[in-house]
Amino acid sequence: MNLRFVSLTILLSPLFTLSASYNFLSANSINDRSYLSNKTVLITGPTSGLGLQVVKDLASLPTQNKPFKVILLARSESKAISTSEILKNVDIKTEIIVGDLSSPNQVFRMAEETKNLVNSIDVLIINAGMFSTATEREVQSDGLEKHFALNYLHQTILITQLLPLLTSPSSSRVCIMGSYTTLEFAKGKLDFSTLHSKEGKSMGGPGSSLPSAHVYSHAKLAQHMWAKHASKVMPKGVTINVACPGNVPGTNLDTWSELRSKIPRFLMPGVNWLLASRTVEVGVQPMMFIMGSSYMTSKTGTFTDWSWKKKSLQYFEPKPIEEYHNGEVAESVADPQQCSRLYDETEALMERFKEVPVAV
Ligand SMILES: NC(=O)c1ccc[n+]([C@@H]2O[C@H](COP(=O)([O-])OP(=O)(O)OC[C@H]3O[C@@H](n4cnc5c(N)ncnc54)[C@H](OP(=O)(O)O)[C@@H]3O)[C@@H](O)[C@H]2O)c1
Repeated sequence: MNLRFVSLTILLSPLFTLSASYNFLSANSINDRSYLSNKTVLITGPTSGLGLQVVKDLASLPTQNKPFKVILLARSESKAISTSEILKNVDIKTEIIVGDLSSPNQVFRMAEETKNLVNSIDVLIINAGMFSTATEREVQSDGLEKHFALNYLHQTILITQLLPLLTSPSSSRVCIMGSYTTLEFAKGKLDFSTLHSKEGKSMGGPGSSLPSAHVYSHAKLAQHMWAKHASKVMPKGVTINVACPGNVPGTNLDTWSELRSKIPRFLMPGVNWLLASRTVEVGVQPMMFIMGSSYMTSKTGTFTDWSWKKKSLQYFEPKPIEEYHNGEVAESVADPQQCSRLYDETEALMERFKEVPVAV
C-alpha cells in the first residue's frame, strides 16, 4: 500500500469538523475504573495491539479497582501465556481458551469451555479483529467472508452463548471495540446483499480506496447494528456499548503493518499527523471508560467516540450507537427495521454453524 491508497477524506479529516453540540464528561467520570473492582472479565484478541493494552491497563489499576479474573480468548497459546503473565504478576487470576475466532464452530466450542470454567462474567470485551490488505474478497472454507466471520460473527456467537453467564451477576457489561470506519468508509449504510458472500466489493469507495476497506467497515457496521438491536432486547442488567479507539497505526492489523512497511520512516511523523494517529495507550481509553466508569452504570446502546479526527481524546459524553461526535448519523444503525433484520438473519446463520460438528 502507498499513500495513494490512503483516502483524501482521512488525510484531510483532521482539518474538518461539522458543527455539533457537545457535552463533555467530568474528569472523575473519565478516569473512574471502580466498576472493574474484583470482577471477572473476558477479552477476545488480548495478545496484540489494543487488546494487549487493555490487559496492561487492567494490570496497572490501583489494587482496589483490579479485576479478580481475566479470561483470555486467543488463537496463539504461547502469546496468551505471555499475556497472562502480565496479569499474574499483579495477582489477577487468568484463564486461557485457545481457538480461531474466525471459525464459528470454534467460537461455539470456546463459549462452552468458558461456561465450564466460570459461572459468571461481569465484563465481556469483544476486541479481536482483522483488516486485510487483500484487494479481493477472501472467503473461508465455511463460505464466509473473512472480516464478517472474525470481526462480526465472533461477537454475536459469544454474546448470545454467554448470556447465562452475563445475567448471573446483578449487572454486567458487554463492551465492543467498534470503529469510525462505519461512517467514513461504509457511510453508515449496510449492504445486506453481499454481507458475507464471495461476490461483492472489497476495496473502499470514495471514503477510502484501502484494500478491504469495504468488507472491513461493513463488518464493523454490522457489529454496531447488532449491538444497537441487542441493547433493546438484552435481559435487564446486561448493558452493551461500543467504543472507538480512533486511528491507532501502531497495532498489528495487516493494513497498518503494510503502511508502516511501505512509508519511509522520515515521512511517518507527517502521515501520523495527517491521520491524527493515536498510540495504543491513548486509543484504548474509550474502551477502558465504557468498561470501568460508574458513569456507564445502566447505560446501554451507546457509542463512545472521543473524536477519531483528533490525535488527542475529546471527552464527549457517549451518544446513541448510530450517532458520531460530529452529529452525523449512520442510517442503517438508526433504522430499527434494518437492525432487527440483521439480528434475525444472524440468528439463522448462527444456528447453521451450531449444528456443524465442532472442529478440533
Ligand atoms: N488499530 C486501529 O486503528 C483500530 C481502529 C478502530 C478499530 N480497531 C479495532 O480494534 C480491534 C483490535 O485491533 P488492533 O488494531 O489492536 O489489531 P491487532 O494488533 O492485529 O490485534 C488483533 C487481535 O485479534 C487477534 N486475532 C486476529 N485474528 C484472530 C483469529 N482468527 N482468532 C483469534 N484471534 C485473532 C490477534 O491475535 P494475534 O496476536 O495472534 O495476531 C490480536 O490479539 C479490532 O476489532 C479492530 O477492528 C482498530
